[in-house]
Amino acid sequence: MSDVLVPEILSYDADDLAARTGRIVVLVEGSSPATPAARRLDRLTRGAVGRAMASEAWGRVKPGESLELAYPAGLGASALHLVHLPRRADLAAARKAGGTIARLYGAEPVLAVIEGHPRHGELILGLLLRAYSFDQYKSGEKKAKAAVSLMVADVAAVQASVTAATALAQGVFLTRDLVNEPANVLTTTEFSHRLTGLRDLGVHVEVLDEAELERLGMRLLLAVGVGSECPSQVVVMRWNGGQAGEAPFALVGKGVCFDTGGISIKPAGGMEEMTMDMGGAGVVAGVMKTLALRGAKANVVGLVGLVENMPDGRAQRPGDIVKSMKGDTVEVINTDAEGRLVLADVLWYAQETFHPKAIINLATLTGAIIVALGSEHAGVFSNNDTLCNAFLKAAAAEHEGAWRMPMGQAYDDRLKSRLADMMNVGGRDGGAIVAAQFIKRFIKDDMPWVHLDIAGVTLLKGDTPTAPKGATGWGVLALNRLIADTFETAPKAV
Ligand code: BES
Ligand code: MN
Ligand code: ZN
Repeated sequence: MSDVLVPEILSYDADDLAARTGRIVVLVEGSSPATPAARRLDRLTRGAVGRAMASEAWGRVKPGESLELAYPAGLGASALHLVHLPRRADLAAARKAGGTIARLYGAEPVLAVIEGHPRHGELILGLLLRAYSFDQYKSGEKKAKAAVSLMVADVAAVQASVTAATALAQGVFLTRDLVNEPANVLTTTEFSHRLTGLRDLGVHVEVLDEAELERLGMRLLLAVGVGSECPSQVVVMRWNGGQAGEAPFALVGKGVCFDTGGISIKPAGGMEEMTMDMGGAGVVAGVMKTLALRGAKANVVGLVGLVENMPDGRAQRPGDIVKSMKGDTVEVINTDAEGRLVLADVLWYAQETFHPKAIINLATLTGAIIVALGSEHAGVFSNNDTLCNAFLKAAAAEHEGAWRMPMGQAYDDRLKSRLADMMNVGGRDGGAIVAAQFIKRFIKDDMPWVHLDIAGVTLLKGDTPTAPKGATGWGVLALNRLIADTFETAPKAV
């Protein structure tokens, strides 16, 4: 588990700046130093801060970004970083500023002078999120990171922000760790083992094994995992922070620990990326962790279907006809369209067992959604405008890209099978929508439902302001906010 690096919080002390070694960061805006710390540093450096802020270069530094003054005369520090963060900055700029500071972590201590900046909470969240690293498989000497301190006006207020941001970051880090972990380590059993660890936080965790899944009739899910040495499992996580007996909100995640495609095997190039095919399950786990850490006042059940899709002598074949838990039969035309088979049975089980108020499922479901939306937005599919709009609003507030896609009968018609109730694929065109239509067949008519196709947003090749390259943890913040806004306030119909 990657740990959250929690900074030390110090009370602002103007006399402590001159002799400090390492890197000093100060938040500034406009074209001249205005805050007490900026003016103090300007005086100590004999006007270097003011000259820098009057320069043409400073004019190109956007909110959240910084300008470095190396070895400034008058200071013991090896560098002074001017981070551009207006007092009226938006949430994204404040998080980016935090990320900018986190990128300075290294051999030298960092002192960031925050003073009483109104966006300190968002800055701290960006700081914690961007400081994530996943380096346990890099051998050789690990360079210890030097201390990080924040100098603030109101220590108690900032401590409260650190506590809140830590609950969010720990959820996001759980998701990122699960997604980054290779498939020889994160087997189905290792995944469920990590989820049972949430019991320590008060989450009820139940693991359903193959015999139990067989008894329940989850044959679609079992058929995906039958070619693997790893046993298929469904893990149910319950957080009961709301009213006793109140129907829960349900989250369901695709947890394909590795997706070779099965007998419809994928090409070799890029197949290694399919270690992230459990990303939906990873987000569900991360949200449950954050809810527990912050003591959310809501009843939420998280379910994940954990399988591995392998080719094997016992693996399912194209053309197999399999009966779902719901009772409908599926002709498996392509064994690489496996995520929808897993989700179908887990979604049905979730509705039958928990009678939730609403369901959101997440899955790295289709390459087609990447063609449509790239890595900027997840695909959003829904049968309910109220729930869908509430999710889109929460995602926009968290700057997690999400874009609603259409659905409709014509797409559903493509799933018609000659032999069974449906096929699991319906041609390439509009593939993400056809996949959503397949899932919708396993959602009861009156059940508010959102399907998030996160294939494009789960693992990135480049850095973002708040994440190093690799797993993003996309969705943890948006879903946490949706739960806070929709399911923790006075009961609202969705
Ligand atoms: N896990 C893949 C989707 C995927 C692709 C996720 C790229 C992340 C990056 C999924 O199981 C899959 O193989 N989908 C097929 C569906 C097709 C056979 C209808 C696809 O998208 O090609
Ligand atoms: Mn697949
Ligand atoms: Zn898959």
